[in-house]
This record gives sequence, structure tokens and C-alpha cells, in this order.
Amino acid sequence: MSSPSSSIRLLHWTIAGLTIGALATGYAMTNSDTFSATLLKSHLGLGLSAGGLALVRTISWIMKGAPAPVFIVKPGFQAVLGRSVHVALRLVPLLLLISGIGMILLSGTLGAIVDGTIPGLGALAGLPPANLHHAAAFLLAALIGLHSLAALWHWQRRTVWG
Ligand code: HEM
Ligand code: HEM
Repeated sequence: MSSPSSSIRLLHWTIAGLTIGALATGYAMTNSDTFSATLLKSHLGLGLSAGGLALVRTISWIMKGAPAPVFIVKPGFQAVLGRSVHVALRLVPLLLLISGIGMILLSGTLGAIVDGTIPGLGALAGLPPANLHHAAAFLLAALIGLHSLAALWHWQRRTVWG
């Protein structure tokens, strides 16, 4: 088991916390009978922060390469799956950032969101970026579930080489 630098770990856990907060507020907002502009604003704050930091991580990945893996896995299917899930976990939050900003700009609701007078989410329904946002959020939630289970599994086995 290797140990990534403290800045990599801080970035990972900050993005993880913000992303889980964005998923929770997003689903709470769309699965509630009453609309809350405050919940929407909290969602946008968490989502923009998670997406912005995910962009920083992606730029660092492109320029410096991926951080050294914590759990060393034998080359093969499991290693390829793990690497692919990490790539998706870096990129899917960017899709959420772009589609989130896109649906607000296309719906023309920015002013009403900022001054808290938006009556509900009706103006966003059916817009192409909204459909993409819903699909990307579902995919991200599934990937996080898989990723957390894999982390727990590896941690229990403490896969150590050398
Ligand atoms: C919620 C519980 C989570 C746990 C327990 C967890 C645990 C871990 C662990 C142990 C690693 C190192 C794996 C290795 O390299 O061998 C890792 C890496 C990684 N995790 Fe998570 N993680 C969590 C949430 C998240 C979330 C929410 C995201 C993305 C939104 C995420 C994205 C990543 C990425 C991209 C890597 C690869 C290294 C990097 O680029 O920083 N993780 N995670
Ligand atoms: C990592 C970042 C983000 C995550 C994980 C996330 C997650 C979610 C989730 C789970 C939903 C509910 C989807 C559903 O019911 O199917 C949602 C809805 C929504 N999100 Fe995000 N989101 C993120 C970023 C953003 C950003 C950056 C914005 C805007 C700037 C945004 C704006 C919205 C809006 C307006 C809705 C309501 C859409 C509708 O009812 O059609 N989100 N988000």
C-alpha cells in the first residue's frame, strides 16, 4: 500500500464530501413535494465547488499524470476496471458542472435563482442539459457506490506488494 501526498488526499476528500453533498441536495430537491429555493442554492454552491475542484484535479491529471495507486492490484481485469472507474470519477463531475451551468443559462433562470424568487424547477424540465445532468448524476452515484465498496474490500485485504 503506498501513501499519496497530503495535497492529493485533501483534494480527494474535499471533492468526495462536496460531491456527496451535491448528490444528496440534488435528489432531496427533485424528490420533494415542496420546492425550496434555499435547497437549490445549497445544491448550486456544493455542485459548483465540487465541479470546480474536479476541473483542477483533471488539469493536474492531464499535466502530471494520475497519482500513484494506493492499493497495488495485479495487472489484469481488476486493474483495468479500477483505472477506468477512477477516470470516470474524474470526468463525470465535469459533465455535471457543464450541464448544470448549461441548464440554468438556457432556461434564463439565473436572475430568479440569485434573488430567490424562482417558483420551482418547471422552467428546466426537459431541457437537453437537464436530461444529461440527471443521467450523469445517476451514473456518478453508481460509480461512487462501486468505488467505495472496492476501497473497503482492498482496505480489508490490505493488498501490499513488497
Ligand atoms: C465515499 C467514499 C470514498 C472512499 C472510501 C474513497 C476511497 C478511495 C481510495 C482508498 C482511493 C485510492 C485507490 C487507489 O489508488 O488504489 C481513491 C482514489 C480515488 N477516488 Fe475515491 N473514495 C471515496 C469517494 C470518492 C468520490 C465521491 C470521488 C469522485 C467524485 C472519488 C474519486 C476518486 C479518484 C478520481 C481516485 C483516483 C486518485 C485521484 O485521482 O485522486 N472518490 N478513493
Ligand atoms: C458534482 C456536481 C453535481 C452533482 C453531483 C449534482 C447532482 C444532482 C442531482 C443528483 C440532481 C437531481 C437529479 C434527478 O433527480 O435525477 C441534480 C439536479 C439539479 N442540479 Fe445538480 N449536481 C451537480 C452540479 C450542479 C451544478 C454545477 C449546477 C448548476 C450550476 C447544478 C444544477 C442543478 C439543477 C438546476 C438541478 C434541478 C434539475 C431539474 O429538476 O431538472 N448541479 N443535481
